[in-house]
Amino acid sequence: MRTQAALYEEIDLELSWSEQELPERERTKHVHRLHPYLGKFVPQLAEVFLRRYASPGQLIWDPFAGSGTTLVEANAFGTRAAGCDVSAFNCLLMRAKTDVYDPAKLLADVVRLSDGVARPKARRPGGYLRHWYAPRSLSELTAFRKRIEGTAYPELWKVVLSRSARSARLARHDDLDFPAEPVQDEYFCHKHRRVCRPVGEADKFLRRYVRDAVQRVQEFADVRSSEPVSVLHGDARFVDPPGPVDLVLTSPPYPGLIDYHEQHAYAYELLGLARRDSEEIGRGVKGYCEDISAVLARARQALRRGGRIVVVVNDRRGLYDGILAAAGLRIEDRLLRHVNRRTGRRKGEFYEEVLIATP
Ligand SMILES: C[S@@+](CC[C@H](N)C(=O)[O-])C[C@H]1O[C@@H](n2cnc3c(N)ncnc32)[C@H](O)[C@@H]1O
Repeated sequence: MRTQAALYEEIDLELSWSEQELPERERTKHVHRLHPYLGKFVPQLAEVFLRRYASPGQLIWDPFAGSGTTLVEANAFGTRAAGCDVSAFNCLLMRAKTDVYDPAKLLADVVRLSDGVARPKARRPGGYLRHWYAPRSLSELTAFRKRIEGTAYPELWKVVLSRSARSARLARHDDLDFPAEPVQDEYFCHKHRRVCRPVGEADKFLRRYVRDAVQRVQEFADVRSSEPVSVLHGDARFVDPPGPVDLVLTSPPYPGLIDYHEQHAYAYELLGLARRDSEEIGRGVKGYCEDISAVLARARQALRRGGRIVVVVNDRRGLYDGILAAAGLRIEDRLLRHVNRRTGRRKGEFYEEVLIATP
C-alpha cells in the first residue's frame, strides 16, 4: 500500500486536471452528456492517449466501450473506431452518440414528437415500472415511446426517453444512481437542501431532453470526422475487432464496483431490451482475472506491430500486473491520475492508473 505522501509524489499532473482546468461543461461536452452513465472516463483522457499513440485513419478498439467515450473521441480525432459492450443499452447509447444526423430530418422528428397525440392506454406495466413511476409519468413515457415509431432517428429518441425515465422515477433527487426504495411523500433532499416532492410527471423532462439532445448531436456534428464507427454488441471474451488494431484504449469493469445492467434497469424495462447480466464481467471476483486476461489477449492478437494497449483502472486490489502478464502483455509505463483534484480539497480522494502495455 502506498502512503498518501508517496501517492502525491507519483501523480501525473498532466492527467490530473483540477476543476478549474477542466470544468464540468468540458468533461460533458456535446454527446458525452446525452445520458447519465456511471463509470465513464473523461473524454480529455482519451484525447491525450489518442494524440500520443494514434494517427488519423488508424483503427482504435475498445472492448469495454461503455457509454462510448473512446469511440466519440477517436472519431473526433479522425480515426476509425470500434467498440464492444455486453449491455444492449450501452450499445444503443453509443450508436445514438456516433450516428450522423440530417438537420432537416431531426427537425421533422422533433415536430412529430411534440405532437399531442392522444395517450394510449398504458398496458399493465411490469413490476419495475409499476413500482417506480407515478401513473401520470408512466402514461407520458409510454405515449412518447409510441410517438418514436416512424421517426427518422428512433435510437436517439429512445435515449431521450430513457434519460427522461431516469429523471421521472420516484427516486430521491439525492439518490439517483441506485435508489433503494421509491418515495411516496415529501422528503428532505440533500442535493437541493430543501424539502422536495416525488416526481409526478415526465413530459417536462421529455421536452427538455429532446431540445438538449438535438443541441448536443449538432455540436458533435461540428467537430466529428467522417471516419466509420462500429458498435458490436457482445461478450468481449468472444468478440474480435473488425480489423487489425493500432491502439486499444479501454477501462474494464472492476469487481464489485458498478452493476452495469442494473444502473439502467428502467431503460431495459421501458425499451424492452434483453439483459445479459450473467455475461457481465466484474459481478464478482471469482474468474475476474481470467476473464479480463482473455479479453486483453484477444486484443493483443489483433494489435498491429508497434501498437499499444492503454488500460485505465482503479486497481485497488493490485490485480493488473498478473492480468496483463497472463494476457501476454508487458507494462511499458504506469501513470497515476488524481481523478478529483479540486483546489484545496483533500476529502474523498480518488485515483486511477493508466497502464500502457505492449505485447
Ligand atoms: C468501466 S465501463 C467502461 C466505460 C467507458 N470507458 C466509458 O467511458 O463509457 C466497463 C464496461 O464494460 C462492460 N462489460 C462488462 N462485461 C463485459 C463483457 N463480458 N463484454 C463486453 N463488455 C462488458 C460494461 O457493460 C461496462 O459498460
